[in-house]
Amino acid sequence: MQIKLEHITADYILGPIHSPKVLNDVSLTLPSGSFTAVVGPTGAGKSSLLKVIDGILMPGSGRVHVGSFTFPGDNDRQTLKEIRKRVGLVFQFPESQIFAETVEKDICFGPMNFGARLPEAKKIAEKAIRQVGLDPVLLRKSPFSLSGGQRRRVALAGVLATEPDILLLDEPAAGLDPHGQREILSLISRWNHEQGMTVVLVTHDMESVARDADAVVVMEKGEVVFHGDVRALFSRTEQLAAWHLDLPDARRFQLELERRAGIKLPRVCLTADELTDALIEVGRV
Ligand SMILES: Nc1ncnc2c1ncn2[C@@H]1O[C@H](COP(=O)(O)OP(=O)(O)O)[C@@H](O)[C@H]1O
Ligand SMILES: [Mg+2]
Repeated sequence: MQIKLEHITADYILGPIHSPKVLNDVSLTLPSGSFTAVVGPTGAGKSSLLKVIDGILMPGSGRVHVGSFTFPGDNDRQTLKEIRKRVGLVFQFPESQIFAETVEKDICFGPMNFGARLPEAKKIAEKAIRQVGLDPVLLRKSPFSLSGGQRRRVALAGVLATEPDILLLDEPAAGLDPHGQREILSLISRWNHEQGMTVVLVTHDMESVARDADAVVVMEKGEVVFHGDVRALFSRTEQLAAWHLDLPDARRFQLELERRAGIKLPRVCLTADELTDALIEVGRV
């Protein structure tokens, strides 16, 4: 499902006080089945962007199109209901919102909220828990008996159980150990590849941007300052420094090597594999 934002402006209304614009004239088209990483400093508006796509934060001006649905429009209640059936939003630290007595009840909550009956919801829960790489025996356990990484996966399973076409994720791997981080990201990447799920991932982790995303949006002070191919982003070395963005390790190593050895590799390398291939190609190893 495609996401299209047209000239979106948004702010948080605090009683009579309006905050400064947290999104300022944001226009973006994210094609169906794409994997877009959203990066930028804290306060840039990344989380707000996800909230606008899910209709939690209503734009002050502009239009949001999710598939064939558009808001603001004539019947926003109904439109947002339809959109939320198709969009899964995973907040930061989603495990903090788990409250059911058992893992199964927690995962069943979403599907039942969208009209599934208990036996059907239980089947969906079993499928979802497998999809996040957990053993279905955990379904009968209390969420509070699980490890942090397992709880994070249960929260993700709860969103997957609603069978979304679009998955919006706000730093889904934050706070996990490096192994857990990579596992979560590779699961998300697989859903994108195998099920054609449109993924929008807010992250600070440039390794996962390099490895998993095909496009990247850079935000700064509520504005989109870059939207394009991941490789194009990491070739703009000076701009990246100005945006306070890191380089993935392989790319940093490539630049250092090119500078010190006075060579130029044939392309921008984003991973260790790509760097190895490029070095072999120019006969340096
Ligand atoms: N619930 C809120 N009420 C008021 N202001 C908020 C709220 N949430 C975020 N903001 C403000 O909106 C701006 C953008 O925040 P956010 O979208 O969370 O940025 P990011 O996710 O990039 O860190 C920040 O200045 C932040 O202080
Ligand atoms: Mg945020």
